[in-house]
Amino acid sequence: MTAKADKRQRVGVVGLGNMGSALADALIAAGHDVTVWNRSAGKTQRFADAGNSVAESVAALAKRADVLVVCLFDHAANLDAVLTEDVGVALSGKTLIQLSHVDTDSLPQYQAWAEGYDIALLKGLIFVYPDDIRSGNGTVVYGGPRAVYDSVRPLLQAMGGRPVWAGSPIDASNAVGAAYSCVLFPAVVGFLNGAAVCHRAGIDVATFNENIIAPLLTGPVLKGVIDGLAKAAGSRRYRDDLQATLDAWNHDLDLAIDTIERHGVEKGLMGAIAEQFDRTIVAGHGGDDLASVFETLIATGRSVDQDG
Ligand SMILES: NC(=O)c1ccc[n+]([C@@H]2O[C@H](COP(=O)([O-])OP(=O)(O)OC[C@H]3O[C@@H](n4cnc5c(N)ncnc54)[C@H](OP(=O)(O)O)[C@@H]3O)[C@@H](O)[C@H]2O)c1
Repeated sequence: MTAKADKRQRVGVVGLGNMGSALADALIAAGHDVTVWNRSAGKTQRFADAGNSVAESVAALAKRADVLVVCLFDHAANLDAVLTEDVGVALSGKTLIQLSHVDTDSLPQYQAWAEGYDIALLKGLIFVYPDDIRSGNGTVVYGGPRAVYDSVRPLLQAMGGRPVWAGSPIDASNAVGAAYSCVLFPAVVGFLNGAAVCHRAGIDVATFNENIIAPLLTGPVLKGVIDGLAKAAGSRRYRDDLQATLDAWNHDLDLAIDTIERHGVEKGLMGAIAEQFDRTIVAGHGGDDLASVFETLIATGRSVDQDG
């Protein structure tokens, strides 16, 4: 028996949209026994043509499978197709891996339904495109009991190649997803802001990317800065290993905004960063590390931790 066959499990995939079909493809490629269901029958055809089983209902799928993987558009779709008595009974004592993007307020309803039928629940959040799931270059973050995560680890590995357990709370993956968005969204929109300045300054955008930004993303400098920020924010100590003060960063920011505006380009996110820096400096952190911005961020709004 091969290592692949040792891990073979009976998996049901609910939802064959862009992402659900990629999850099914990845599970099939890893050698699992996959049965599929989709609301519109057309999307099941290529799976049937390839010799995979197609279930006539989600309840029938849940009955046949050991583990159900769900990837529907949203919570409303889950209410329609998954959170029913029939599915609950059929899935009792088994595991459900929920990969639809469900809003945090709806997760307790999902969890209560699963607990009511003794279903082990993992809530995952996919950070990548469908092709990354197929090629094994995809990070997927999970919340839910560690024992459940460990029990289906080969399946999680098959779906993207890089599963990450974020913690026991069912909304843990949503929290990590939001934190990731805090980094990704400014980075991609910031790139466009920089491209706009280059465009106005007569500098080729592709050259800017290849010579300046690509080396920053793949080289050690940015990683070193982020590692330093993680260490300082994690310990909340802002004078250790100080390389540049927040005042110095703020001076550079002022000069950059002046140059951006001289080229007739919006300052965009740089304006929001300037406001954040100003508040942190007013709070007395001008001589501290840039990481002290962390203090004004956690001082704002509703606190759910024990900062005091
Ligand atoms: N695509 C991505 O790059 C990506 C990346 C990360 C996360 N995600 C998440 O993955 C989930 C699915 O996204 P997707 O890109 O696969 O979307 P999609 O291509 O639009 O597919 C949506 C799926 O949901 C089904 N559906 C919608 N309403 C339904 C209902 N009331 N009852 C039963 N089935 C219903 C659709 O069935 P029909 O075929 O019958 O319409 C289809 O299978 C979303 O939560 C999304 O946030 C997607």
